[in-house]
Amino acid sequence: MRERVITLGLLVALFFGVLVLAKGAGEWRSPGNQQGYAPPQPIAFSHRLHAGELAIDCQFCHVAADNSRYAGIPTSDICYKCHKFVTAPYAAVAEERRKASEEKREPRPIVSEELKKLYEAMGVADPLKPVDPSSLEPIRWVRVHNLPDHVLFSHQAHVQAGVACQRCHGPVETFERMYQYETLSMGWCVHCHREVNQTGVSGRPVHASTDCAACHY
Ligand code: HEC
Ligand code: HEC
Ligand code: HEC
Ligand code: HEC
Ligand code: HEC
Repeated sequence: MRERVITLGLLVALFFGVLVLAKGAGEWRSPGNQQGYAPPQPIAFSHRLHAGELAIDCQFCHVAADNSRYAGIPTSDICYKCHKFVTAPYAAVAEERRKASEEKREPRPIVSEELKKLYEAMGVADPLKPVDPSSLEPIRWVRVHNLPDHVLFSHQAHVQAGVACQRCHGPVETFERMYQYETLSMGWCVHCHREVNQTGVSGRPVHASTDCAACHY
């Protein structure tokens, strides 16, 4: 506990130090405040398609959201549950079938450029060329959200209290490319904690702490 008090003291000192620096630097941004950040991803994965049109549940892919700090990014195995069979958009497959029957031949298998990257990462791109598993590189998804290390945040507390993903991440089921919807600033967290203590979450009363030590080491 004593250590905690000392770290908090340091944090407060840091805060004022940073304020001074911020004045000097003019355009200082806290590292967590990256609202709108939308880095390109190694595969053009669409939440609009998967979570919107196909209505796949968020936690089908983000399996740890209700029981750990991190929601988790899905492994390729989860994608492969479907993409073992779905190798290209349906329209492209239908078009090839139409052509094939017109030309009186067997339809050729169609693999989209984006999904080819998934198959390469999994070593299943070419069934005739077995791959050495140790040479496989996992898909390097680029992290979008990043809280600073001195902040304590856990998905579990929020998801179990019934806070919807969208309340913090926005209408993800409409995003063609993932981006940071909110500021993730301290004011944003504290504002909601005050609000839910008044309103509850879906009618259920909650106690979301506004003590410094609830969110800081
Ligand atoms: C079919 C699997 C799948 C489904 C369903 C899905 N996601 Fe994702 N999600 C991913 C993948 C893959 C990434 C990493 C690539 C990216 O950022 O687009 C990701 C990234 C994210 C991120 C950003 C993580 C970071 O890097 O900071 C958030 C937030 C997120 N998803 C929220 C949601 C929410 C909310 C839903 C439901 C509305 C949802 N996801 C449904 C697969 C999925
Ligand atoms: C109370 C706000 C809040 C809610 C509710 C919330 N998130 Fe998050 N999410 C965050 C914050 C803040 C971060 C950044 C955390 C960090 O950097 O440690 C984050 C990061 C993520 C990430 C990337 C890092 C990780 O944890 O793996 C994913 C994926 C994600 N959220 C998905 C979801 C999904 C899916 C849901 C709903 C089941 C959800 N989130 C609900 C605030 C929230
Ligand atoms: C529950 C089934 C399901 C899961 C799980 C799933 N997908 Fe899909 N995905 C689909 C379907 C169906 C389509 C094709 C929709 C259409 O006809 O356009 C698709 C389309 C795509 C496309 C677009 C292909 C193109 O070239 O236009 C990409 C890329 C993709 N998925 C990547 C992923 C990744 C990466 C994951 C894992 C994080 C994943 N999918 C998980 C069902 C799924
Ligand atoms: C949309 C509203 C909302 C936002 C935004 C939000 N929280 Fe929460 N937070 C809650 C609710 C609701 C609870 C659960 C309270 C309960 O279980 O009674 C909670 C609980 C917590 C807890 C568990 C400790 C406790 O109070 O019992 C921590 C830690 C926490 N939040 C940190 C954060 C941080 C850090 C952020 C910003 C990055 C944040 N929260 C943003 C609503 C929110
Ligand atoms: C509900 C969660 C929450 C509570 C309660 C909270 N903080 Fe924070 N705090 C954060 C988050 C999130 C950040 C990171 C903000 C960013 O990166 O933009 C932060 C950042 C900071 C910083 C670093 C400077 C900055 O703005 O990035 C200091 C110092 C700080 N908090 C001190 C405090 C003190 C002192 C208290 C108690 C009066 C407190 N915090 C209460 C969530 C919280």
